[in-house]
Amino acid sequence: MGCDQPRLSWKLEGCDRATAYQIRSASVAEQLRAGDADLWDSGEVASPGLIDVPYSGRPLNSCERAYWQVRSKFDGEWSGWSDISFWERALVDPGEWSAEWISLALGEGGQPAPAQLLARQFEVPAKPIARARLHYTAKGLIRAYVNDNDVSAGLLDPGWTDYRHRILYRAVDVTSVLRAGTNKLSAIVGDGWYCGNLCWFGRNRYGARAMALLRLLVEFEDGDRLMVGSDSAWRGTDVFVRTNDLIDGVTQDFRIMVPDYARWTPVETFPIGGENLVPASCPPVRSTEVIDTLGTWQNSAGEWLIDFGQNHTGVLSMELTGACELEVVHGEALDAEGNLYTANLRTAKQTDLIVSPGGQRRWSPFFTFHGYRYARIAGHSESTPPMVRSHVLHTDLERTGWFECGHEGLNRLFSNIVWSMRSNFVDIPTDCPQRDERLGWLGDAQIFAPTAAYLYDVSTFFAKWMPDVISGMSERGIFPNIAPQLEELVEGAPGWADAGVIVPWTMYEFYGDERLLSDCYPAMKRYCHAVLDANPDWIWRNLRSHDFGDWLSIGEETDKTLLATAYIGRSLRITADAARVLGLEADYISLSKAHEHVASAFKGEFPLESIGTQTGLILAAQSFDLTESEWAALGDRLEARLVANGGKLATGFLGVAGLLETLASTGRDRLAMDLLLSTEFPSWLFPVENGATTIWERWDGWTPGGGFQDPGMNSFNHYCFGSVGAFFFERLAGIKRLGPAFNPIALLPLVDERLGFVDLRFTTRYGEIRSRWEVESGHLNWEVTIPSGCRAGAKLPRFATNLSTWSVEGPASEVEGNPVTRAFRLYPGRTSIRGPLQFDVG
Ligand code: BGC
Repeated sequence: MGCDQPRLSWKLEGCDRATAYQIRSASVAEQLRAGDADLWDSGEVASPGLIDVPYSGRPLNSCERAYWQVRSKFDGEWSGWSDISFWERALVDPGEWSAEWISLALGEGGQPAPAQLLARQFEVPAKPIARARLHYTAKGLIRAYVNDNDVSAGLLDPGWTDYRHRILYRAVDVTSVLRAGTNKLSAIVGDGWYCGNLCWFGRNRYGARAMALLRLLVEFEDGDRLMVGSDSAWRGTDVFVRTNDLIDGVTQDFRIMVPDYARWTPVETFPIGGENLVPASCPPVRSTEVIDTLGTWQNSAGEWLIDFGQNHTGVLSMELTGACELEVVHGEALDAEGNLYTANLRTAKQTDLIVSPGGQRRWSPFFTFHGYRYARIAGHSESTPPMVRSHVLHTDLERTGWFECGHEGLNRLFSNIVWSMRSNFVDIPTDCPQRDERLGWLGDAQIFAPTAAYLYDVSTFFAKWMPDVISGMSERGIFPNIAPQLEELVEGAPGWADAGVIVPWTMYEFYGDERLLSDCYPAMKRYCHAVLDANPDWIWRNLRSHDFGDWLSIGEETDKTLLATAYIGRSLRITADAARVLGLEADYISLSKAHEHVASAFKGEFPLESIGTQTGLILAAQSFDLTESEWAALGDRLEARLVANGGKLATGFLGVAGLLETLASTGRDRLAMDLLLSTEFPSWLFPVENGATTIWERWDGWTPGGGFQDPGMNSFNHYCFGSVGAFFFERLAGIKRLGPAFNPIALLPLVDERLGFVDLRFTTRYGEIRSRWEVESGHLNWEVTIPSGCRAGAKLPRFATNLSTWSVEGPASEVEGNPVTRAFRLYPGRTSIRGPLQFDVG
């Protein structure tokens, strides 16, 4: 934890609403168990608590631990104390590193360099160790070892930030791997984002040389301390990892033996300067799954082709037997002749080279990742296929959303969305994991953020990314297109720059995170003002940078001024709402007024009846308040646009996320479902029908008539069109967020008999919400589970008939007086709602 005041959260089980809580915290677990809260006792607080209660005890010292527990009061009675949990403070003062950056002079001159092995030995006295902490980071990538045990938190530490502004470090507990006598602390350091190839910008974007920084502190039970920092006592050597590059791949030559430690060369040292070293608070990139081969065959050149059956991001591992020189190329698709298709990788090589002098060894590359479903292996001369497996890599976030229904195509679409998320949440939200790009494009991130937040807990992931969005802001106050920012001073386009406003708000909606919101708020407000200052008539005409528009829309082009104005309208409303949440009343009033000005200028310049594209109508609906008659007109017009387009979608990156939602909000559930279930080109299920295992960048990435789209831009693993995932949660399962962190919620599923059943689970910060419905012989069986501490309401879905015959069993009570349907208040636990349906699908 890098802050004085971490926030404490807990979940209740099997009870309704608490009226009070008490937290106590101590520096020793036993002490806490005995009731001695030397750090903090909140006393009885008349509130349920549950999420983000700031710790208000004595500030901790560096690496100090706080143990804590909580109890809740129900109906005047205290629960027992919870289990004990703990957190640990990071380094408070950068001066405490007592270490220097260390490096070997291997990487200068712009050429790929071998990875460096850096190490030193040290003596540990033979007495009991209380605990040992290793802090480490790199300008580049680092794997840390104690006595040759890999103690690294992740595979691509310390991750990608704009290193000019911030470098993250990790802290790990290494107590169990130390021993009395001689010990070794070592690190392998590679190029990574710091000095390897980045996108099409080439090498050395941040520096020409990879470096490491480490600090080991051993604390003994008798109070003695031993500190081993990276310094001039370290020695280093190059290793068998001859080149290592995130985009091009890795060369490993196992003939290169590590020489005797005595013959290693001394490292060069560089003092810690103005670097902003910040503790990492987001999970690291790890291997989260291993995939076995689905098919293996040899081509006429004797090369082996491997199909893993699933497009993903990862690295291979292979069992090597005997001397060999292998080349492993990774690609997403096969061409019409069955060859590995690599044209869409552009200049990315995605190639690993291996030289082995013989003997048995297990190979897996270091400091790289590839985007692929297939691999082609040259040089494997044996008649049996190479023994390979694939290791899926991404930031190891906690899964929160699961969906299944009775329609195989939708299940596969959902799975493809999950896989594209996993493939592109590799330390930052990337556009794609395979070609020479892999950048944190803001437009993509904001469009997909709600779906992402349903699927995984992305609270720390986006909290890690947002400082790079903010530091990438131009002097005029415009957020960038990509973060970490690479193109100096390039300002973001409408819909891209707006991510600087939309993402922190999405995190607030999903997690109730007011701290991130208040950290981002000054930049959000500055951005809104920068756009308005340049556009005095409230229409966003100036300062639109690249102006990507509704990127990759198909068949319709939305007016870019309309799109931009809708976006700044939305950003203003969000920023006004953020001001209200943060208690900034004057800002709330002035930003709301500005939003109204933009709304009326928009309606003047782009009357609803003149908007001629699906995306134009969707953005108007998303960004501005509409009267009932305007809603009705917008719905009619959207339907008319769809009909005019042969019943097919025409949206690009920005329109796509709101298409089905806008249709459903104007009562066109059936039309929304027709689009979702369509397999005709262009549609979500068209790629599914054509074998997609991830979401394609373009609707027409591949077509039966045209084959592959332009290889200059044709990724098969881009999550944007997967933003439809939110619709599965919000409409198919019917979970509507009414308050931050989904408390309260309203439940109202969109029942469509073509799905048979829908079973959706979603873990909020309060616990799991489940909505499962099934249509059987004209009847609906709907089961809803609500977590403790959460308030919820439900209504009978559309098509419910004979309302009085519906039965409701479980912790629920009826809300009287609904003229159209029956409505219920639901309490924590499981409620079953059953009754007849009469589908009117005309
Ligand atoms: C990226 C996109 C990005 C776009 C900007 C592309 O090269 O892959 O995902 O949003 O550029 O228009």
